Amino acid sequence: MKKDDQNVQPLRLDGQTLVDQLQILASVGSDPRGGRTRLAASKEEGEGRDLLVEWMKELDLEVKVDSVGNIFGLLHGEEGGAGGSPLVLGSHIDTVISAGPYDGCFGVLSALAVARAFRTAGRTPSRPLVVAAFTNEEGVRFQPDMLGSLCFAGGISPEEALAVTDSHGVSLEESLKEIGYNGPLTSGFFAPGEYLELHVEQGPILDREGLSIGVVEGVQGISWWRVAFRGKANHAGTTPTALRSDAGYGAARTIVFLRELALSSGTTLGTVGTLSLEPGAVNIIPSKAVFTADIRDPSEERLAEADDKLKAFAEELASAEGLEVTLERLARFSPVVFSQSLCALVEETARELGLSSRRMTSGAGHDAQMMARICPTAMIFVPSRGGISHSPDEHTDRADLLAGAEVLLRTAEKLLAKE
Ligand code: GLV
Ligand code: MN
Ligand code: MN
Repeated sequence: MKKDDQNVQPLRLDGQTLVDQLQILASVGSDPRGGRTRLAASKEEGEGRDLLVEWMKELDLEVKVDSVGNIFGLLHGEEGGAGGSPLVLGSHIDTVISAGPYDGCFGVLSALAVARAFRTAGRTPSRPLVVAAFTNEEGVRFQPDMLGSLCFAGGISPEEALAVTDSHGVSLEESLKEIGYNGPLTSGFFAPGEYLELHVEQGPILDREGLSIGVVEGVQGISWWRVAFRGKANHAGTTPTALRSDAGYGAARTIVFLRELALSSGTTLGTVGTLSLEPGAVNIIPSKAVFTADIRDPSEERLAEADDKLKAFAEELASAEGLEVTLERLARFSPVVFSQSLCALVEETARELGLSSRRMTSGAGHDAQMMARICPTAMIFVPSRGGISHSPDEHTDRADLLAGAEVLLRTAEKLLAKE
């Protein structure tokens, strides 16, 4: 019998199991706002990890966990087959605060659906297929974001990544130990052949244009800062305005500056998502104001310019207002361009399936932008209703989810076909 004859069963997407698993995972860490909160390496995220590992084992995948908690489910390739580097499919299962059901989980569980299709058909890929779930993609609890994939790609050492602490001073290492996901393997323990990530768009473009598939050519650059103004606490009723060192005013002016900077650039986005004032009383001039700034731009030049302008503005303002200011870098990633040949393959696959598509750049950060450092990488997007994400209202229609998963399956099938 020719070797090819062993692999005759067609691969089929089990859409019902995919949708069921998405729903089950979405119920883990459910919160009173109607969303789910599974911050990286938290107890709730640990429960999500346990579920994922159980589902990987049901498919007889070999589960491997590296020292920064990245989870890999390995479907071995043909013995004596083409060998070669694994095709990695994946994303993340940690969430932001009160997240929607699909951000990250869709990519991981669709990757699992690809492995399931091989198992159900009794087929063995010519080279290994790996289902990956990376640690701390969201960056809400630990910074920088995409920490697990950054480490896997060699952008930060495991020691440095494990030493990162959350706002309560708890390290990633302690947190992973607590949930039992401080694995034995060195991050980056294998070299992927390619990486493909399926994700909800999280923006309005596909939904507005009535298209099924986004062929993602790259990701815009990201810059995160923690800005702290320090002034003098004093009485709100007795201190003349000209004599104040008001840290809250420093923060407010800088926040407005960031919005104006974004508006004048046209492509830059600026967000202040956290803000705290100390001591925090109605009748005390704030002695300290701390906020985060999230700046993004598809152009590295404009992103660097925005970084410089923010810093210069905050420093000039501090000196004029009798304040001290510090700007601490939390994350900085340049824009990334994905593999043109993988994008073409995704595009061709969507066309063969009769699905409409367009090329686009991702506004959100993704593990794919880290994996692109070490192997040919691309992403597939499906529409997000109303462009809403990082919210319990995040929604993608079932048909769109399954269309995206089908594109992932068929693209993977082509990549895993024998030469
Ligand atoms: C991750 O979701 C990000 O883009 O912040
Ligand atoms: Mn995501
Ligand atoms: Mn996200």
